[in-house]
Amino acid sequence: MNSIDEGIKAMDNVDCFFDLLHQIGASHRKIPGFKKEYFWKIEHPFLEAVRLTLGDRYTDNMDNIYRITIKFLIETVVSGYETAPDHEPNDNVKRIKEGVNNAATTTTTNTNTTNTEDNKGGAGKGS
Ligand code: HEM
Repeated sequence: MNSIDEGIKAMDNVDCFFDLLHQIGASHRKIPGFKKEYFWKIEHPFLEAVRLTLGDRYTDNMDNIYRITIKFLIETVVSGYETAPDHEPNDNVKRIKEGVNNAATTTTTNTNTTNTEDNKGGAGKGS
């Protein structure tokens, strides 16, 4: 509920809203057995919580607005999950929460991640 709250608050800053929710979605990649459909499980409990919290103030208009809001929020989280690489670090979520401007300006010079496995033309076994 906390991050849904944060997501809703971030709605006045579109970039922040998408970054935060995409990162939240992506972070669920590391959960074994997780399926993106599970995000939708939060939809009705969320609406119920808003309804109970607002009581009389939960008008049809409110209902409408919150339905659209939670749907949009979950769609955004799901798209973050879908587009994330398998091993997504959570650093961006932390940075967003700490304030984007304080994000470490690590000049990632030549992070020699040796993932060049294809030894095309390289001398190797065979021939
Ligand atoms: C829109 C719905 C959801 C939101 C906004 C949400 C948000 C979050 C956030 C902010 C974290 C902690 C940050 C992170 O680890 O990157 C987290 C962790 C986690 N979430 Fe969700 N979540 C949602 C739905 C779900 C659902 C449906 C499940 C399971 C069925 C789930 C399972 C978990 C688990 C197991 C962790 C802990 C991961 C860890 O500590 O390594 N989440 N979630």
